[in-house]
This record gives sequence, C-alpha cells and structure tokens, in this order.
Amino acid sequence: MDATAYCLDVAAIRRDFPILEQRVHGRKTLVYLDNAASAQRPRQVIETIDQLYRRHYANVHRGIHWLSEQSTELYETAREAVRQFLNAPSSDEIIFTSGTTAAINLVARSWCEAFLKPGDEILLTLMEHHSNIVPWQQAAQRHQAKIRFLPIDNQGMLDPSCWDQYFSPRTRLVSFTAVSNVLGTRNPVGQLVEAARRVGAVVLIDAAQVAPHEPIDVQAWGADFVALSGHKMLGPTGVGVLWGRREWLEKMPPFLGGGSMIRKVTLEGFEPASLPYKFEAGTPPIAEVVGLKAAVEYLWQIGLAHITEHEHRLTELAHEVLSDVGDIIIYGPSVQHKAGIVSFNLDGVHAQDVSEVLDQEGIAIRAGHHCAMPLHERLGVPATARASFYLYNTYDDVYRLGEALRTAKKLLRPGRTRSSNA
Ligand SMILES: Cc1ncc(COP(=O)(O)O)c(C=O)c1O
Repeated sequence: MDATAYCLDVAAIRRDFPILEQRVHGRKTLVYLDNAASAQRPRQVIETIDQLYRRHYANVHRGIHWLSEQSTELYETAREAVRQFLNAPSSDEIIFTSGTTAAINLVARSWCEAFLKPGDEILLTLMEHHSNIVPWQQAAQRHQAKIRFLPIDNQGMLDPSCWDQYFSPRTRLVSFTAVSNVLGTRNPVGQLVEAARRVGAVVLIDAAQVAPHEPIDVQAWGADFVALSGHKMLGPTGVGVLWGRREWLEKMPPFLGGGSMIRKVTLEGFEPASLPYKFEAGTPPIAEVVGLKAAVEYLWQIGLAHITEHEHRLTELAHEVLSDVGDIIIYGPSVQHKAGIVSFNLDGVHAQDVSEVLDQEGIAIRAGHHCAMPLHERLGVPATARASFYLYNTYDDVYRLGEALRTAKKLLRPGRTRSSNA
C-alpha cells in the first residue's frame, strides 16, 4: 500500500516519536506493536514534562508562592483538558489516579464500602483485564457479594440474547471493558448501560483500551464511572483518570486518607475536602498530569476519529497478512467488530517462542495471558501473541510482521504444513 492510502500524515507523526528511530539489537528498525500494553510518547509530551521540571515545578495547592501557583495552574488546567476530552459535565468529577487499576480499585473500595450489601451481585464480562476482576473479587469477599460473568460466544463477542439470565434486581454494579485488550472486541456500551439501568445497577466502564483511540463522551455513554490510563494514550506512566458522577462521588467515603483530601483534621477525626480533592490524597503525580494534558492536546491535534480509521485499516491489513502466512489462528471477532488489536497463535507453537523470533526481527509484540487469564481459559489456550496498533504504525509495519511470522514458522514449525498437521 502506498502513502496515499493513509488517512493520517503518518510520516510526520513518526518524526514526533524519537524512540521509533532506534534499531533493535543494533540491527533492524523497530516495529512497535505493543501499544495495548503501553504507547510511546511524542516529543511534545516529553518536552512539556522537561519544561515543567526546569521552570514551573513546585507542590500544588500548598505553598502560596510564585512557583506553586504556576504548578497548580498547570495541574488544574490539565484537569479541565481531561474534562473536555471526556465531555464530562464538571472538572470536579475528574479524579487523577495512578492509572486504570487505581481508578477501579478506588470505586471497588469506596463505592462498595458504602453501597454493596451481602447477597448483592457484581456483573463483569469474561473478557475483563485482571484490573477489572480482582478488585471486585476483593470487594465481594469483604461484603459477602457474588460475582457473575457475562459469557462470550466463539467469536469473542458478548451475546445480548442471554443477558436476561444475568441482569437481575440483585445486580448492584456492572463493570465492563469498552474494548477487550486481548480480542479487540468492541463491546456494545449503550446496550450494556441500558440493561444495567433496567435493573437499577451502577455502571463502570473500563476505557483503558478505548480512550487512546476513539472519541469518548461520558455523557453519551450514560455510565456512572469511567476509568483510563495515561500511558496508553501517549501520556506518562503513573497517571490515570477516574470520572465519576457527582451524585455518587459526593456520597462515597474517601479511599485513601492523608494530606490534601481533608477540609479539617482534629484529634478526634477529619472532615473530607470537596470534590475532586477528597479522592486525591497526598502529593499527586504533578508532572504526569501536566504531561497527560500535552498528550490529550496531541491527540486532539491529530483527531481521534482519524486515529480510529487509521487503526481500522491497519487491522484489516493485518488480518489479510496473517491469513496469508498460514497456520495462524486469529482470536476474536471479524475486523468490523474490533479495535486495533490482533491476538493470534502460530498453530502448535507457544506464543512466547513466536515473540522471541519476532524480537530478533525488530518487532515488539506481547505474548502471554495479557492479564486476562479467565479469557484465555475460555479460549482454551494459556497464551496468545498480540499485535496492537497506534497512530504511528505503518502498513510496512504490518508487512514486516507478516515476514517475521514466516520466518518464525520456518524456524518453529519446520516441515509442518496445515495438511500434514490435520
Ligand atoms: C482493558 C484494560 N483494563 C485495565 C488495564 C490496566 O491498566 P493500568 O495497568 O494502566 O492500570 C489494562 C492494561 O493493559 C487494560 O488493557
């Protein structure tokens, strides 16, 4: 495919990502296809953080001095940028956390402490990341609640026709990923929220795999909580976001106690601060939050709808290229139902071995259970290899993946073809 087939100026974008210029093991140019685990950062984000530390850094909301005012201003402007990014009604509802995991844990601790009762049910899906399973298991244990999982069909999609068996008046909370980090499946967010509302359940959406790639509108989604991570959307590590409806956040007890989250402390007790500070105990990740704003601005400048389309084209090509290699099993639905994530196995070969060969060819993918062991149990394999795309990936990256897989096939399945294997 030639450059005219791009809906983004990928060449210009790549110039913003110095890390992509490197040679792997000093030989092959890097093909970075591990974006679902973590993305790379453009120099605009790197330089913003560098400038913050060089010129504007101090602790926020504390000292009333020149530097602290600058730092606080930058921190709070970032909150407003994230509010716009999510189309949230108020920046008071934007809580900075250390990532999706921390955001989900916040709700699983705080909301469940106030509202989850023995016998209540928490409904998840079988394709959740461990971050959206374990915190609920811990909460269920603490409050004698039960967890249920919406099943998936053989294409790796949810099947609404069986939901009546799962949504019931006992369902108190429904938490699901908008996009599977393994299968790439796009879940029917609207339908899930509607089903939850019908039984009066609260909804959390794990947006870790969608926020970097598609426009999000939390008001259109209609959920109660949305969690995401900065490092998957061109931002720094150690920062993420919990958006929550004010009605809930105001009723929930603080999660962590400490500095900044209080209005008043006496020897007898404390009064929590107002939103959003009530949930931001201690010194927050200041540079990371400011870096996240630069990432959001970068994504706006490129246009999230263009990024979605670009990744869709890469995914379509990847399905074609992998099918041409032969003896590759692709997991998950057809391209029209998935985001830019392609998990696969070379038939009869462990994903780890495949990824080692690919690494020698300069290609970074992920192999393993991708923090989704229950899903892999359902797929009947202990591990998959996963290629995941982002705005800086090219068609050539996909062709290189195909060539490297041919090499892997020669090395790891010598003399075996599908017919001799059948
Ligand atoms: C769907 C999903 N949820 C949650 C997480 C956890 O994100 P973090 O490790 O940034 O907290 C991930 C990370 O891969 C993910 O893909």
